Amino acid sequence: MSHPFYITTPIYYVNARPHLGHAYSTICADVIRRFYTMVTDETFFLTGTDEHGDKIMRAAKKENMSPRAYVDQISGLFRNLWPQLNISNDHFIRTTDPEHISVVKAVLQKIYDHGDIYFSEYEGKYCFGCERFYTERELVNGKCPDHETEPEIIKESNYFFKMSRYQQWLIDHIQSHPQMIRPERYRNEVLSFLREPLDDLCISRPKSRIQWGITLPFDKDYVTYVWFDALINYISAIGYPDGPRFTKFWPVVQHIVAKDILKPHGIYWPIMLKAAGLPIYQHLNVHGYWNVAHSKMSKSLGNVIDPLQMLTIYGLDAFRYFLMREMTFGLDAGFNEEALVQRINSDLANDLGNLFSRVVTMAHKYFQGIVPEADPVMERELALDMESKITRTIETYTQEMENFAFQKALTAVWELINQMNKIIDVTAPWELAKNKSSQPQLQAVIYNLLEGLRVISGLIYPVMPSTAATMQKHLGCNPDLPFYKMDQVRVRKQLAPGTRLPKSITLFPRVDLKKNHEADMPNPEVKSLQPELKPEITIDDFSRIDLRVAKVIKAEPIPRAKKLLKLEIDLGEPELRTLVAGIAGSYTPDELIGRQVIVVANLKPAKLMGVLSKGMLLAASSEEQSVALTVDKEVKPGTPIK
Ligand code: MSP
Repeated sequence: MSHPFYITTPIYYVNARPHLGHAYSTICADVIRRFYTMVTDETFFLTGTDEHGDKIMRAAKKENMSPRAYVDQISGLFRNLWPQLNISNDHFIRTTDPEHISVVKAVLQKIYDHGDIYFSEYEGKYCFGCERFYTERELVNGKCPDHETEPEIIKESNYFFKMSRYQQWLIDHIQSHPQMIRPERYRNEVLSFLREPLDDLCISRPKSRIQWGITLPFDKDYVTYVWFDALINYISAIGYPDGPRFTKFWPVVQHIVAKDILKPHGIYWPIMLKAAGLPIYQHLNVHGYWNVAHSKMSKSLGNVIDPLQMLTIYGLDAFRYFLMREMTFGLDAGFNEEALVQRINSDLANDLGNLFSRVVTMAHKYFQGIVPEADPVMERELALDMESKITRTIETYTQEMENFAFQKALTAVWELINQMNKIIDVTAPWELAKNKSSQPQLQAVIYNLLEGLRVISGLIYPVMPSTAATMQKHLGCNPDLPFYKMDQVRVRKQLAPGTRLPKSITLFPRVDLKKNHEADMPNPEVKSLQPELKPEITIDDFSRIDLRVAKVIKAEPIPRAKKLLKLEIDLGEPELRTLVAGIAGSYTPDELIGRQVIVVANLKPAKLMGVLSKGMLLAASSEEQSVALTVDKEVKPGTPIK
């Protein structure tokens, strides 16, 4: 069948290591790409890294590395992670690739020649973190909404892209293509943004300030603004302007992004495409954010989830399943290991795993491991109704997958699993086995359950490709057939009676979170989650830490940071100190006032959620609680701990 399909992920910045958020977008792309391989032979999946700009240059400097060596290293982390998550991308683009650089230049020149780029002096508020100017309207309390810092006023001559010229065109296009940006909430967000006049976009940065970028083809003293460079990856990677891949895949492209980068993808990108005379993408699929303990994942909060750690502990397919099942595409979700363990035990070990091992074990017990033949008369008599159950499941599943509603697609598959578990309870094969005369019924039940499992293995393939292949093998399916192709999945009664089945296996062992956390009780199935003891230090090392007793004078919550409290503490110094402590889960602000706590007084100050924290409160911390350390008797604030 020839209905090409092309999916992209954002290309990730190389100023930080890959985390759960990056893994989620890329797994979504992998799942949807695998789903489309079920229905078409021509699919293309692109991911990569975004490597230019000031942010990257500064990150390299911090590591004492040249930008080139630095981007090579971090880009490598992404590139090496994906195979470990069973990501099936066809290409990995880097914005430092020479092919990409020449396409960016060609597109810029085209738009420039078309008269949509002009040179002008501009004074404005610039956030160095975001590498862009902000208008007053976009700032929150005068600060950058992402970095919570006040932008700096800078005056510069730069090149601007006439986005305003295309504002009405974009509104009309979005309105006449209701599915262009989905789910609908994000389409509405873009339309609401477009109700205000659109500013032109500053697309250059003077080399006097930033050198790490693509030189403008029409002015060698400037480099290209990173977003203008980065978005073009989606076309440069497939051979713009006339490569065969470009011709085939560009007209059907779909992007996946999270809500943080809705504006560049929902506004800049379609206008850039229009100005360059290219067709607009088919769909922009926007998902929400994974939060951890109600806060955004961030290095400073120390709550960044490492996908590699998760898959080492829980297994790759279980981790992929959890991400797809737990988050409603488009909405935010909270990541926590209890929920992951719960899903593994109930959905995977119990529902699917048990069904699989029960059915295969029964086939061995009652039919010596040979697939039995089912008599259609018996099937009707028993009202197994598998035919229509399977058809309904496939229909719902397909529709939901096409809409990126992974959660609903999986729910549909699990309904079928539950119906099959019910068939076992109702028909009670162990009772049928007692009586020779009910042998035909027993054959019909077991055959249909095996067939149902075959269909399920096909449907879970996009999310859990390894489990799907294992199930196929143990169902005795013909290894030469591409089992995941939808027309194979749909073929009824594909399992050949008489086939010998391998012995049953446990697809998903049950997981015990408590056990995982008990270092002295190693669980053979899963690695311990208990933090490892840190390496030995000397007394000199320890004496460099200035531990002191402090008294809490004031405590208040920090907006949008459910775990954090802002404390004013008395350390016996002339002025009170501000400190941010991650103990809001265990204390109300009032409970803390007047208490004596222990703090690291000489910790380098750091900004947490916009508050400068000078020191760190010590607490006994676990997943469940954070209990502040205190002294046995009241002492003078500032007393050192030795
Ligand atoms: N380089 C730009 C994208 C350019 S695309 C032409 C960028 N990079 S990024 O490294 O910051 O990646 C942002 C993307 O990472 C999000 O849009 C999302 O896909 C993913 N995520 C990062 N954190 C996330 C969560 N906490 N939750 C879900 N996805 C998140 O922006």
